[in-house]
Amino acid sequence: MSGAPAPVVILISGRGSNLQAILDETRSGRLPIKIRAVISNNPEAEGLQHAHAAGVPTEVIDHRAYSERTQFDAALMQAIDRHSPRLVILAGFMRILGETFIRHYAGRLLNIHPSLLPAFKGLNTHVRALAAGTAQHGASVHFVTNDLDGGPVIVQASVPVRTGDTADTLAARVLREEHRILPIAIRWFVEGRLSIRNRQVLLDGEIRPEQGLVAATDQRTEATK
Ligand code: GRF
Repeated sequence: MSGAPAPVVILISGRGSNLQAILDETRSGRLPIKIRAVISNNPEAEGLQHAHAAGVPTEVIDHRAYSERTQFDAALMQAIDRHSPRLVILAGFMRILGETFIRHYAGRLLNIHPSLLPAFKGLNTHVRALAAGTAQHGASVHFVTNDLDGGPVIVQASVPVRTGDTADTLAARVLREEHRILPIAIRWFVEGRLSIRNRQVLLDGEIRPEQGLVAATDQRTEATK
């Protein structure tokens, strides 16, 4: 793709391994974005160090400083909008955002969720997947709407649940896929290849086979597109 890299803002709350995956893809030249800022609601978020190390500006908007959720959302919007991003990415951002915030970024707000949505919305997805005895688990990148973890899915990747898995071993297997599909979804977005029709995401105007599932074996193909 030609032209200037797309300005993006990334929101995090903790470890920041998905942020690191985005930083790595960007540095390698595979992701035509300019990360204008990484913003965390948690001053202790490890991910802030990843941003510093990559020379990306960081900000902290500590949710504990606001008595009302709407005030926190407003402060966050102000901080984000100073960077005029084309895209806002929730990369392990663990606060629920209000209606006004979500409406403001409608169609340009992405989230990574550790399950094969619509299965296991919300928290503790790996424990719940094991308890349910599901054979396949995975990760999804979706547009954020007011329906929590229910917005249109852009891309998913599945992993098998293996005998003897614990929540931690399963989480690690899913996390590797998160690191793979989040940059893919971002790239599709900034290349202008995504659209939404009837609450369904289209890639290049078409519904993707298998509801957007990217099998791990497609990795090489996807990375070179
Ligand atoms: C990821 O599993 C993400 O899907 C979930 O929180 C975790 C964040 O991990 N929402 P990290 O901060 O990107 O390492």
